[in-house]
Amino acid sequence: MDIAQQLFEKAKQIRTNAYAPYSKYLVGAAICTTNKKIFSSCNVENVSFPCGTCAEAGAIASMIAGGERKISAILIVAEGKNLVYPCGACLQRIAEFGDEQTKIYLADTEQIRKEYTLGELLPYAFKEDI
Ligand code: THU
Repeated sequence: MDIAQQLFEKAKQIRTNAYAPYSKYLVGAAICTTNKKIFSSCNVENVSFPCGTCAEAGAIASMIAGGERKISAILIVAEGKNLVYPCGACLQRIAEFGDEQTKIYLADTEQIRKEYTLGELLPYAFKEDI
């Protein structure tokens, strides 16, 4: 199975654990690091809405806790007629640990539908220059 397909299976599975009683929108995310380690998570909502976290944020936290630092690819999966594009904040989170070539796969629960690079979804990302 290639990496993208492995990420799809992981993200799809972990998506079923999402805690999304408010939006009812279940999201899964899986990361492959440059060392070929895989980390995944789902969205976790809160009755105080801004306290909720995206699936990507959870997967990144898991990657960091697991001792890895560099994202080579990330896949996000959700259900519905529109694909789940990472929000602006999550693109910035991915940028912290990726680069312009980092792959971003978008999937519905059936299959991978789109493939981008971070450079395409977040051109001119903010970079520390201080
Ligand atoms: N969500 C994610 O987990 N990732 C995204 O890329 C977009 C949005 C979550 C946040 C919230 O729990 C729900 O989807 C509805 O916005």
